[in-house]
Amino acid sequence: MQKLKGQRALVTGASSGIGKAVALELGRAGADVLVNYRSGDDMANEVAAQIASFGVRALVHRADVSKEADVVPMFERMAAELGGIDILVNNAGLQKDADFHDMTLDQWNTVISVNLTGQFLCSREAIRLFRRQGMRPEVSKAMGKIVCISSVHEVIPWAGHVNYAASKGGVMLMMKSIAQEYASQRIRVNSICPGAIRTPINAGAWDTEESYNALMRLVPYKRIGEPEDIGKAAVWLASDDSDYVTGASIFVDGGMLLYPGFENGG
Ligand SMILES: NC(=O)c1ccc[n+]([C@@H]2O[C@H](COP(=O)([O-])OP(=O)(O)OC[C@H]3O[C@@H](n4cnc5c(N)ncnc54)[C@H](OP(=O)(O)O)[C@@H]3O)[C@@H](O)[C@H]2O)c1
Repeated sequence: MQKLKGQRALVTGASSGIGKAVALELGRAGADVLVNYRSGDDMANEVAAQIASFGVRALVHRADVSKEADVVPMFERMAAELGGIDILVNNAGLQKDADFHDMTLDQWNTVISVNLTGQFLCSREAIRLFRRQGMRPEVSKAMGKIVCISSVHEVIPWAGHVNYAASKGGVMLMMKSIAQEYASQRIRVNSICPGAIRTPINAGAWDTEESYNALMRLVPYKRIGEPEDIGKAAVWLASDDSDYVTGASIFVDGGMLLYPGFENGG
């Protein structure tokens, strides 16, 4: 059964990694999908072609989520060509790592503007569109659903990545505050907090045997996460199966948050 049949989803940063897997899983579950990307036309077109093979509509749209002048027209296109929006997945994100004493203002601003301001801009446009189109009881019990891709680093401090951890901590309270503000209008807002997932953003943490084994010391479940692990969680959060869930951070992390340093008694 296609749980998202008849719904329209927008996934940011969907040409690679987690965003690609989320877009594919939403399409497989029956949603029409707008594949947002920033660079790499071919990769975005390939994702769209795979989504279309599930018998749903797929569009590609190039936009920088940190720029209001890019984001607003993207949602206008969503309304014009897909007829509206039911699901937003705020996935686009990046890292600009540095020791804190060497971190430039540009490294700080770049990460905050994509990871946090980008999620603000897209969430605001989605909420405006949900409210304009109203309830669609034939496809969902909720007026709209937003899934923010956060990180275990919304709660785990991360030396050498202060800008990234700050952006994800910001996503946590942004998500919960939006969820509180719009719950009575049947708009659900939640986060998925991935642990270590096999994508380009963190290739250095898993692409050699040595780095993989070091990573596993942080993962009680003793395997790296795959992008599909996040895609499946996103389908659940976007579907009526999670209709009573809002304002939640769902950790999909193989137990990374379980203080693995204590697994042998500390
Ligand atoms: N992989 C992990 O272990 C992990 C763990 C926790 C959280 N996350 C989060 O998961 C999300 C996806 O990351 P990923 O691991 O899949 O990394 P990824 O493969 O590098 O994907 C990130 C995507 O975001 C896009 N993007 C970056 N800046 C953008 C902008 N300004 N506007 C639109 N798109 C933009 C990138 O496009 P370009 O390539 O064109 O820049 C890329 O497609 C991020 O929010 C990340 O923080 C990942």
